Amino acid sequence: MKNILVLNSSLNGENGNSNKLTNTFVEKAQESLAVKVSSVDLNAAELSHLSIEEMTSWQTTPEERTQRQQTLAAVSDNYIEQLMSADVLVLGMPMYNFGIPSVFKAWIDRVARAGITFKYTPTGPVGLLDNKKVIVLAARGGMYAGTPKDTQTQYLKDVFGFIGLDDVEFVYAEGLAMGEQSYNDAFLQANEKIIELIGNL
Ligand SMILES: Cc1cc2nc3c(=O)[nH]c(=O)nc-3n(C[C@H](O)[C@H](O)[C@H](O)COP(=O)(O)O)c2cc1C
Repeated sequence: MKNILVLNSSLNGENGNSNKLTNTFVEKAQESLAVKVSSVDLNAAELSHLSIEEMTSWQTTPEERTQRQQTLAAVSDNYIEQLMSADVLVLGMPMYNFGIPSVFKAWIDRVARAGITFKYTPTGPVGLLDNKKVIVLAARGGMYAGTPKDTQTQYLKDVFGFIGLDDVEFVYAEGLAMGEQSYNDAFLQANEKIIELIGNL
């Protein structure tokens, strides 16, 4: 049984193109594999920017935390626990203004935690998570894959590598705002690639 954790970040909720990709992934995975799926809509969770108050709660030992600090620390603790118990992480990844959605950055800020998901050593940072597959299902209005304007791909490889997750695969549905033909072709290609990736799980 594989544990799949799906994280969606679209402003559009279930109507998001990236949600359509994650839904297809789940549907196809359920058809061919024994999977347990947990889904989180980070946009609906209304994750705020990381604050100094929340970070201080992490740096305070659990026994010394105030009630408020316990509540704040639990946000990051819970996301890290979810991530640790997943075998495969599937990300619905809209491109907004050339980057990742700010709500996904807010999630990254909660799961990249010194001493828990990475540590510093004399030779540099070391990721502490056991390797697991990360699959990024990217939805974009324009065409940016393979160009310097795609700031998502390298950033996501770097940040997941930093916490120990080096196996990051991308599926792109691009040109979604470039007419019906382009939209349909993009989903056709992306769905094929999704089926191929599921075959390799
Ligand atoms: C605020 C905003 C910014 C966007 N910026 C970009 C962009 O920089 N590049 C791009 O190709 N598409 C851009 N788009 C189009 C989205 O990538 C496209 O609508 C995609 O389907 C978003 O995923 P979603 O439908 O899951 O929300 C933007 C859309 C919005 C709403």
